[in-house]
Amino acid sequence: MPEGPTTVVGGTGFLGRTIVRELVEAGRAVRLVARHATLPGWAEPGDAIEVVPADLRDEAALAAALAGSGAVINAVSLYVEQHRAGLTFEAIHVAGAGRLARIARGAGVARLVHVSGIGASDASPSAYVRARAAGERAVIDALPKAVILRPSVLFGPGDAFLGALVRLARLPVIPLFGRGETRLQPVHVQDVARAAAGLSDTRPLARRLFELGGPEVLQYRQVVEQVLAHLDCRRPLLPVPFAVWRLAAALLAPLPSPPLTRDQVILMQGDNRVGEGVGTFDDLGIVPRTLHDSLPSCLAARGAT
Ligand SMILES: NC(=O)c1ccc[n+]([C@@H]2O[C@H](COP(=O)([O-])OP(=O)(O)OC[C@H]3O[C@@H](n4cnc5c(N)ncnc54)[C@H](OP(=O)(O)O)[C@@H]3O)[C@@H](O)[C@H]2O)c1
Repeated sequence: MPEGPTTVVGGTGFLGRTIVRELVEAGRAVRLVARHATLPGWAEPGDAIEVVPADLRDEAALAAALAGSGAVINAVSLYVEQHRAGLTFEAIHVAGAGRLARIARGAGVARLVHVSGIGASDASPSAYVRARAAGERAVIDALPKAVILRPSVLFGPGDAFLGALVRLARLPVIPLFGRGETRLQPVHVQDVARAAAGLSDTRPLARRLFELGGPEVLQYRQVVEQVLAHLDCRRPLLPVPFAVWRLAAALLAPLPSPPLTRDQVILMQGDNRVGEGVGTFDDLGIVPRTLHDSLPSCLAARGAT
C-alpha cells in the first residue's frame, strides 16, 4: 500500500470515477482531483475521499493537489479541442501529462499510472492519437518508472460507446463505419479500473506498459449486432465509406460539442486490439467480462432494455 492517499486526476470522468470507487471499496484513501471536483453521490460519511479542484494546466494547483500523495493515477481526458479555451491535445495529453509526472517525481510519489489508449502512435494521421504517443513519452521522460495503461474502447453503465449505439438503433437503418470490419476489443470500465487501482499499489512490477482489452476481439459490425439483439431491434446495417464519415465529421466540426470528430473516424479505420509483448489482464490476475454478458447491466442503467 502506498503511504498517503492515491490521487486520481480526472476522478469525476467515466473511468476516473470508477477507479475512485474501486479504490474506496479496497479500503484505500483517495484524493479526487478534477477542475469541477465533487464528492461522488455514492460516497458515505466515513469514506476516505478528499476532493481537490485543480486544472492539469495549473502548475501550482496541481502541485498542491499532488502533495503528500502516495500514488497518482492520471485519468484526464480531452476528446475535442477548444482552442480559444486553451484546451488542446498538446496542452492536456502532452504538456499536462508531462507536468503531472514531473510534479509527481518531485513530490516523491511512489507510483504513477498514466492512462493512454491502445494505438498511441506518432505515425497516426490523427492529432489526438499522435498526442497520446507524445504524452506517454513526456511521462516516461519525467518519471521513467511510470506505468502506462492503454485500454481499448471502454464500455459500462452510462458510457459514450454503447450510448451512441443505442441512439443509432432509433434510426431505420444503421450506418456502419466502412463495412463494419474494424476489430475492437471492448473492455468493461470496471475491469480497467480494477487494473489501474491494482497497478497504483507499490508492489514491484515486471512490466511498465499494459494494454487492456476485453476477452473477445469483435468486428464493429458484431458489436452493433449484439446491441441490436439485446434491444430486440431488427435493423438493416448499411456500409458507409470512410470518406463519407470524414466529410460528415468536417461538417460537424464547427459545433461546440460535435457528435462525431475526425479523430474518431480515423480511430475507427484501424483495429484497436491488444498487441504483442505488453502486459495484459493475465499479468494482473484479472478475468475481464464480455460485452455480451455485460449488456443487460450496462443498458438497463440508461433505460434501454
Ligand atoms: N472512454 C473510452 O472509451 C476510452 C478508451 C481508451 C482510453 N481512454 C482513456 O481513459 C482516460 C479517461 O477517459 P474518460 O473517457 O473516462 O474521460 P472523461 O469521462 O471525459 O473524463 C475526463 C476527466 O478529466 C477531467 N479533466 C478534463 N480536463 C481536465 C483538466 N484540464 N484538468 C483536470 N482535470 C480535467 C474531467 O473533469 P473536469 O471536466 O471537471 O475537469 C474528468 O474528470 C483518458 O486518458 C482516455 O483517453 C478512454
